[in-house]
Amino acid sequence: MTGRFAWLTVCLVAGTVVTMLLIGLAFLPVSDWEVFVPAAALAGGAVVLLAATAVEIMGRRLAQPLRRMVRSIDAGEVGQATLGEFAQQAPVEVAPLLYALQRAQSGQRGALEQLERDRGQMAALFEHLADGVLVLDPDERIVLSNPAAARLLGRPLASGHALSEAVRDPQLVELVRAAPSGESAVHLIDMPNGQSGRRGWLQVIATRFPDAARRLVVLQDVTELRRTEAARRECVANVSHELRTPVAALKALVETLEGGALEDDPEVARDFLQRMHIEVDGLANLVNELLDLARAEAGRLELDIEPCLSDDLLRSSVERMRPYAEQMGLDVEVLQNDAGVVVRADARRIGQVLANLLANAVKFTPPGGRIEAGTRAVDGSVEFWVTDTGVGIDADQLGRVFERFYKTDPSRTSAGTGLGLAICKHLVIAHRGTIRAESAGVGQGAIFSFRLPREMEPARF
Ligand SMILES: Nc1ncnc2c1ncn2[C@@H]1O[C@H](COP(=O)(O)OP(=O)(O)OP(=O)(O)O)[C@@H](O)[C@H]1O
Ligand SMILES: [Mg+2]
Repeated sequence: MTGRFAWLTVCLVAGTVVTMLLIGLAFLPVSDWEVFVPAAALAGGAVVLLAATAVEIMGRRLAQPLRRMVRSIDAGEVGQATLGEFAQQAPVEVAPLLYALQRAQSGQRGALEQLERDRGQMAALFEHLADGVLVLDPDERIVLSNPAAARLLGRPLASGHALSEAVRDPQLVELVRAAPSGESAVHLIDMPNGQSGRRGWLQVIATRFPDAARRLVVLQDVTELRRTEAARRECVANVSHELRTPVAALKALVETLEGGALEDDPEVARDFLQRMHIEVDGLANLVNELLDLARAEAGRLELDIEPCLSDDLLRSSVERMRPYAEQMGLDVEVLQNDAGVVVRADARRIGQVLANLLANAVKFTPPGGRIEAGTRAVDGSVEFWVTDTGVGIDADQLGRVFERFYKTDPSRTSAGTGLGLAICKHLVIAHRGTIRAESAGVGQGAIFSFRLPREMEPARF
């Protein structure tokens, strides 16, 4: 209402006054002009002055709250509350505008707060992502990276550094450089990761943003996945191998019998049948071991937990093994450190563990050797152990004997499939226990021991 509009109003009033003056003059006789003109001019001037003053006062009244608001906005003081105050104090002509502004500001504030919350969530996600993420500018400089990327690449990744400086792996840099769009490649890389310096598999997915200038690199540690896959392949190969040998033997025996041995030489036929029996037993044993292992690995072992005397468990296993050991020319002795120790366990399953440890001791100890077994209470656990004076185990192989199908003898000439200790490990773990192998080296004998908590609760595993 100030400025040009105010003066337009004043001019309009002045124009109206002058027009009325001229109309008045037209109707008055000339003799009266002398009195009328000064009086009319004075009255017109007063009206114009009054109009100008009124316009100025009105203009100020309307402009003042707006000016104050502009000053507050410039000073950064306008918030929801102040806009409301301005609106309350403002004249009716201005108040609706201020209320409308207040509503718009409230909507914007809500949207901003939501944006801030979303940004915080995205930042937390980025920070805690297990996959490494890198964003590179067109010059292949790092714009953004998360802690997982630095961890997987084994070095700090500062923004602004060229990828080729930060990652000293030309193959990885080349892979990222060459990625046209949406390209993904699995790439082997040393992953020092601070602790083990182990070699692992890193999947690198490099892609360009739609503007084709910046690049996004996602790094995934697929080492475990690859190991599991390799273990699965190895397991299938081992099972096939273990099945092929007895099946081939059975086939040969059947063919020989069919070829005439059955009628021609009953003595030989009987011998063949006995050998077939052994092969079938071996196959049945393998299938049972595989089933046990599969159940244990899937966590589907059912344990029948009950209080058992550790000494009883050990002695019954040793006595079952004694004839076989003595037949092999071995001395067997039970050493009892603690009698009468009660342990809550599945007697049949723990008997199976002890039977395999004792069978191994017999199998891997040359005639004339000695096997000792014992049990004792240790803290809240019961320990069982079996020692022998046999072929021993090389330090490098000690950690692997609990793997499925692992045998220290590369030609795998000793009897058995190499599943026994893997099953033992799972049975002991199902009892929430631990198992270990020790040996002073090849030719130095071995000690196998496992511990079970004494207060094992009945449970399904
Ligand atoms: N007491 C031991 N002395 C020396 N080596 C052992 C002893 N016990 C186990 N090993 C080594 O660990 C390997 C794995 O043992 P594990 O009991 O799993 O298999 P296995 O006895 O060969 O076959 P399985 O038990 O399935 O019939 C053995 O093949 C052997 O190389
Ligand atoms: Mg065994």
